[in-house]
Amino acid sequence: MHMNAYVCAHSSPPDAILRELAHETAEWYPGEVSLPIAPEQGTFMTILTRLIGARSAIEIGTFTGYSSICLARKYWDRAGLGGKIELRLGPALDTVRALPGTPQFDLAFIDADKTGYLAYWNEVVPRVRPGGAILVDNTFSHGRVLDAGNESELVQAVRDFNDHAAADDRVEVIMLPLGDGLTLARKK
Ligand SMILES: C[S@@+](CC[C@H](N)C(=O)[O-])C[C@H]1O[C@@H](n2cnc3c(N)ncnc32)[C@H](O)[C@@H]1O
Repeated sequence: MHMNAYVCAHSSPPDAILRELAHETAEWYPGEVSLPIAPEQGTFMTILTRLIGARSAIEIGTFTGYSSICLARKYWDRAGLGGKIELRLGPALDTVRALPGTPQFDLAFIDADKTGYLAYWNEVVPRVRPGGAILVDNTFSHGRVLDAGNESELVQAVRDFNDHAAADDRVEVIMLPLGDGLTLARKK
């Protein structure tokens, strides 16, 4: 058995709505099935959200909404959003910059275009309250961060981001080997 299958088999599974959403997403976007976060990442995010008692969260990079549900535990369409999720479509950097610069979020999740990670990070960190959490997906870039021969813009951007986050005095950081690498930071 592959270690990842073992991890999933010993972790709380996604609920029926998430399974249905993952299934439909795979049908709609057959070539992009890895865009939603991995199920075990979703379970981790749900537990983390509950552990820190997060009331407000920002997600940068939403796709079909899998991780949004893990953060908010709301059924996007089925519950009519219930006023809990506000979707803002548009270039994410503009969207975040339009928000007040004050600490207002308990949790942030960055999962949009990888070349923008550093810029998103620098906009998001001041907007997360002390003690709040910041999650960043795909920080392994499918293992390519270790491939010295890979000098693509995307991979270099992820490497630069990882170096920056690890050295950022405003946060404590741990890279978790969940999915394609999930970086967890706690704002000091
Ligand atoms: C990896 S997917 C997000 C997956 C999502 N977190 C989930 O679990 O289902 C990345 C998303 O970011 C969006 N995106 C990419 N670049 C963006 C940008 N500059 N501004 C806003 N959204 C962007 C893409 O359209 C896509 O929906």
